[in-house]
Formats: sequence, C-alpha cells, structure tokens
Amino acid sequence: MSINIAIDGPAGAGKSTMAKAVAKELGYIYVDTGALYRAVGLSALRAGIDPSDSDAVTAALGLMRVELKFKDGEQRVFLNREDVSESIRTPEASMAASAVSAIPSVRKFLFQLQKDIAAAHDCVMDGRDIGTVVLPGAQVKIFLTASPEERARRRFNELKAKGIAADYESVLAEMKQRDYNDANRDIAPLKPAEDAVFIDSTGLNIEQSVEKIISVVKEKLL
Ligand code: DC
Repeated sequence: MSINIAIDGPAGAGKSTMAKAVAKELGYIYVDTGALYRAVGLSALRAGIDPSDSDAVTAALGLMRVELKFKDGEQRVFLNREDVSESIRTPEASMAASAVSAIPSVRKFLFQLQKDIAAAHDCVMDGRDIGTVVLPGAQVKIFLTASPEERARRRFNELKAKGIAADYESVLAEMKQRDYNDANRDIAPLKPAEDAVFIDSTGLNIEQSVEKIISVVKEKLL
C-alpha cells in the first residue's frame, strides 16, 4: 500500500513549498491538487464561461481533459494535452479556480484522478480537502496555516519574483475573499480533518516549517 501524506490549509500558508520539500526529503512525489482546479478554471476563462456558472462549467467538463504528469519529480498539469503549468498561476486563474472549486460536478470530475495518483504512488498531496474527503485514510494529515497578512505578503513576493504586476493590498483582499469562498462553500469546505496535526507557519521560515512537518511525519510513520 502506498504512503500518503495530506497537507491542507488556506492559500498562501506555504503548503506547496513545504509539501515539495517534505516529498523530496522522503523520496515521494508531490501532488499539487490546486493545479487541477486552476486548470478547470483556466479552461472556463478561455471558453468565455463565467467560472461561477455551475451549469455552463458542468457542461464544459465533457470537453476538458485534465492530466498530471511527473517529470524528474516535478508535477506538470495538462489541459487537453497542452502544458498549462505556468498559465494557471495568474491572479485571474486563481479566482477562477476558487469559483469552479465550489461546483460539485468539478470536484467529482477531479476526485478519481487524485485517488488514483495516491493509490499508485507514495505521495505528499496538498489541497483543501485531502485529509477530509480525497484521502481520509492518509497515514499523516497536516493542517498548515498562517495569518492572512503573512500569507498575502508571501504571495505578493512570489508574484513579484515572477514579474507579475500586483499590489499588496489587492493581494490581501483577494486572499481574504478566497479564504471566505473556500471555507464557506457547501461542498468540501476548507476545514481540518479531526485527526490532522495543526501547524502555524506565521513567523517560521521555510526550514523551520519543514522541520516541524518532518518531525510529525516521523512520529506518525515510525
Ligand atoms: O492551492 P491553490 O491556490 O492552487 O488552489 C486554487 C483553488 O482551488 C483554491 O481557491 C481552492 C481550490 N482547491 C480546492 O478547492 N480543493 C483542493 N484540493 C485544492 C484547491
């Protein structure tokens, strides 16, 4: 049986950075499930569909082929055979991802894909509902969080480093809006699994956060 580590938490808590580092340390693959929702959101935007229009998005799913591939341990996401790993990172794609992720048919569409990857590989999977819905049997569950201001600061710096224009106040406002959407939707809202270990990364650097997670993993797996 494969070993699965679920890392859930709000946007900007550092899930992907931590999950990637933990996966590397353990020799597991890292699966970023947000990329799947982003690919669906991007697909809706490109088709001129309002990402919050449940009926229109649901109808479009039949024409969407979303795949994850792993090259040298790096995840790439494909939309109808096109590698969209970079195009899904814009603020527009983030908002579209948040909107489509509230649509039950979208979650259903992506559910099996996530299950299959976790069944086939030892992995660290990050998202919002991994420990609660996708992998309730994961051997380790972490709920990673940080203050909204710290998360917005990190996201702002990330965008800046990539040369994407943004200002801190709107990144913070967008972050709070996404937190609200993700936590208050009817289906698979962001909430910690009962058996998740909480880690608050506010004020911790990457190394300190990774160390904390690794110590939880060791405690659970050894
Ligand atoms: O982690 P991220 O920012 O790339 O996620 C993009 C959006 O997708 C986010 O607003 C919430 C949603 N999402 C989700 O609902 N469930 C997941 N497992 C992962 C992401």
